Amino acid sequence: MKEIIPPPSIVRNDVAAVQALFQKNVVPCYARFDLAFSHGAGSYLWDITGKRYLDLGAGIAVCCLGHANPEITEALVEQSRRLVHVSNLYYQEPQGRLAQALVNLLGPGKCFFCNSGAEANEGLFKLARKFGHDEGRFEIITTLNSFHGRTLAGIAATGQEKVKKGFEPMVPGFRHVPYNDLEAMRAAISPATAAILIEGIQGEGGITPATPEYLLGLRRLCDEKKLLLLIDSVQCGHFRSGRFQSYQRILEAVPGGEQFIPDGISMAKSLGGGFPIGAFWVREPFADLLSAGTHATTFGGTPLGCAVALKILEVVEREQLAQNARTVGNYLKTELLNLAQRYPGVIKSVRGLGLMIGIELEPNIRAFANQEKTPAIGFVNQLHAAGVITIPSGQHVTRLLPPLNLRRTEAEEGLKLIEAAVAQLVP
Ligand SMILES: Cc1ncc(COP(=O)(O)O)c(C=O)c1O
Repeated sequence: MKEIIPPPSIVRNDVAAVQALFQKNVVPCYARFDLAFSHGAGSYLWDITGKRYLDLGAGIAVCCLGHANPEITEALVEQSRRLVHVSNLYYQEPQGRLAQALVNLLGPGKCFFCNSGAEANEGLFKLARKFGHDEGRFEIITTLNSFHGRTLAGIAATGQEKVKKGFEPMVPGFRHVPYNDLEAMRAAISPATAAILIEGIQGEGGITPATPEYLLGLRRLCDEKKLLLLIDSVQCGHFRSGRFQSYQRILEAVPGGEQFIPDGISMAKSLGGGFPIGAFWVREPFADLLSAGTHATTFGGTPLGCAVALKILEVVEREQLAQNARTVGNYLKTELLNLAQRYPGVIKSVRGLGLMIGIELEPNIRAFANQEKTPAIGFVNQLHAAGVITIPSGQHVTRLLPPLNLRRTEAEEGLKLIEAAVAQLVP
């Protein structure tokens, strides 16, 4: 496991000065927290006043090897000395090797590389349109409470009104049905439907895993109706659940589960561990649908990005981080469930798999009543004060999406900090 070298502490209390730079020069489309970070090491972050935080958010499920991982640095330095970028007009070895590694992990098919999760989903939308085109089918059914990115098609695909508001009219061809409801999905299919897109575990929607019956039922439905089954694995993928893909974890003990395979998968976030890279994988019979000239991006799959992604796969395997996500995740979830029992007036439920855990607050906590901000944000702010980073989700949930190499001792430390914050909320 990683070695953490404590960095020298930096004490320069100029948070307000950094905030002023943003207020004057950065488009204000984010409601940022009052924190300005300067550096990190492993599972810890330091703000510019020198305060240390245990980072259980990992940049929203991105920094899968923690911060300032020396092997990522080395891969970046080594590859950047050789070749950073050539464009997709040419061949280069790292992209070919990364595609091969992902195909080996997922199944026979091919990969396309891009730069973000939204762009990976855009690729899947185009794949579905191309697939249905000659029969006039173009519609993609997604689920309520889903999140699929902030591009125009991404917000049309997302099953949450708040991301669409002010950007109407929506890109046509997306409809939403309740998650984990197979009959609702069946009823929504029309002669124009080409594909179904779901998250294996809904992330932004508050950490809700798909049920095994839902996944297996969707596969049967797609086969029966000749639809593509697409999985958005941007947040729940890349070993976070304890397996490479969340559907593998959800179905591992289920008869027939090992045979389950979707037709397309989008990836980003932990794929590059902080270096921006996204990808989609498409299953063999559909792998050549996007033929030459139909889809492209300048930066997709640069030698630099692919070298980092390959290094991450190597470290995850060598350090058995899928297993770590499973064991440390189980430990965290079990202890959080115990906490929920001890503080029934504060924690309503604890959900998730591996190192993707949601803590749902009770709706009527007095400390958060009549506050401008949501209870989720109020709780996250309280956790910041205690020295731990988590990610809010919806009105009442906060998410733990820590590095996959989180140590048991770090998990213990996080639990103590969370418990102290929860205790303060008891009326
Ligand atoms: C499930 C899911 N899909 C897509 C996206 C969009 O990814 P990106 O922000 O890299 O565009 C996200 C981002 O949080 C996500 O959680």
